[in-house]
Amino acid sequence: MSTEIQNIVLAGAAYLVAAVLFILSLKGLGSQVTARRGNWYGIIGMVVAIAATLAVAEHTPRPELLAAIAGGGVIGGLMAARVGMTQMPELVALLHSFVGLAAVLVGYSLQLGSKHMPTTEAVEIFLDVFIGALTFTGSILAFLKLRGSVSGKPMLLPGRHMANLLMAIASLVLAGVYASKGQLWALGAGTAIACVLGVHLVAAIGGADMPVVVSMLNSYSGWTAAAAGFMLRNDLLIITGALVGSSGAILSVIMCKAMNRSIISVIFGGFGGDAPKPAAGAAPAAPAGDMTDLDDKALASALLEAKEVVIIPGYGMAVARAQHAVRELTDFLRGKGVTVRFAIHPVAGRLPGHMNVLLAEANVPYDIVLEMDEINSDFPATDVSIVIGANDIVNPAAEDDPTSPIAGMPVLQVWKSKLVVVNKRSKGAGYAGIDNPLFYKPNTKMYFGDAKGAIEKLVTEVKSRG
Ligand code: TAP
Repeated sequence: MSTEIQNIVLAGAAYLVAAVLFILSLKGLGSQVTARRGNWYGIIGMVVAIAATLAVAEHTPRPELLAAIAGGGVIGGLMAARVGMTQMPELVALLHSFVGLAAVLVGYSLQLGSKHMPTTEAVEIFLDVFIGALTFTGSILAFLKLRGSVSGKPMLLPGRHMANLLMAIASLVLAGVYASKGQLWALGAGTAIACVLGVHLVAAIGGADMPVVVSMLNSYSGWTAAAAGFMLRNDLLIITGALVGSSGAILSVIMCKAMNRSIISVIFGGFGGDAPKPAAGAAPAAPAGDMTDLDDKALASALLEAKEVVIIPGYGMAVARAQHAVRELTDFLRGKGVTVRFAIHPVAGRLPGHMNVLLAEANVPYDIVLEMDEINSDFPATDVSIVIGANDIVNPAAEDDPTSPIAGMPVLQVWKSKLVVVNKRSKGAGYAGIDNPLFYKPNTKMYFGDAKGAIEKLVTEVKSRG
């Protein structure tokens, strides 16, 4: 067997190993217990994939390329180490834009380097460049919206669905022209339309739907990579792209269900008649009732007398970095024989799994952290529910008020507990910018203060009782 064939066989075997590692990685990331291992499978898979690709490259990789890989790796590592958990969605959006841009550049380099382009290859190039350009501009706008650099409000142009339809038809015609004649202008025009479409689709989407958009862009970036895999005849890129594409699509559907939004409506920016949600940062509603508060002493007494306690963490616990104090409180109460469990809403915080990651970081045992569906029916038997920096995910208006912007969104039914204690800093609204009738219920008491300081004070108080 010649060396060249040997290399190709070895690279095929390495790609297979990498593909299996990526699948194991996704499986591992599905649970907190195995997430760390899942991450390692992904890292090893990527190292194997890059090494195999470099080993079978037709030409010895140029030093500039190796320097770019090393530089990119260092910058990526630094960004990942520095990013705050709450800024993760915008970082992910930015990284998706790179995938889109890379796909566009790969497509153009193949077009410019080929003298005769078979039809199938031309279709692959057009598809890759089109999805890549759409992902690129859409992700950049999503990044700017999430950063707050541009308004998070949906921009709903009149006749936008017709404009989308016309752009889709024009793109199909251009794809046909490009596939049959291989003319560069058709590819260029298709790219321009995809860039406009990416901006237009994301611009029409409001703040509350942005997490789903990021997840959809994740899916698009996967399909772009898969299309690039077909162009470059690289099986691993096809498999990896399909894994990212399908997992991103599944996550988008799960998030839409958790927010009671239609996926079609989110993709096409309000298509199907759904009222757009108030954007994050919109003028928040004023409180419409009287709140009663309690201090750390009264709360400590209620907790030490309780048998069943449920803690509901939200975005405020994340920004305050109160998870360690919360774990300390949990350990102490459990030591006193109180049953303490955590209730996690699927969109609590600002990214999927946000609360799970923070609680795992603070070493809260996994078996007392329950998903919404597992714990919602237990609230009537709960003595004290403590809501820590959460708002929208415990808003009863989602169930009681059909006119509410979050009407129909599944929420944690904390108001069914005997006592509900809400920790937040002020009477302000949450992400959706709407009032929360939970705060005025007779069995609800407010425990005002920054989550970290307030829970640390509570820990000191319960511990002082022995
Ligand atoms: P929110 O509805 O945003 O409420 C968080 C509350 O935390 C606020 O009312 C705020 O009140 C309080 N808070 C802020 N800083 C605090 C601090 N340092 N200490 C104590 N409290 C603090 O959060 P949620 O209930 O977790 O719901 C999540 C929302 O974000 C949903 O609307 C969801 O749709 C949306 N969203 C979710 C995701 C994902 S995928 N998880 C992504 C983007 C958006 P004060 O200002 O009065 O303190």
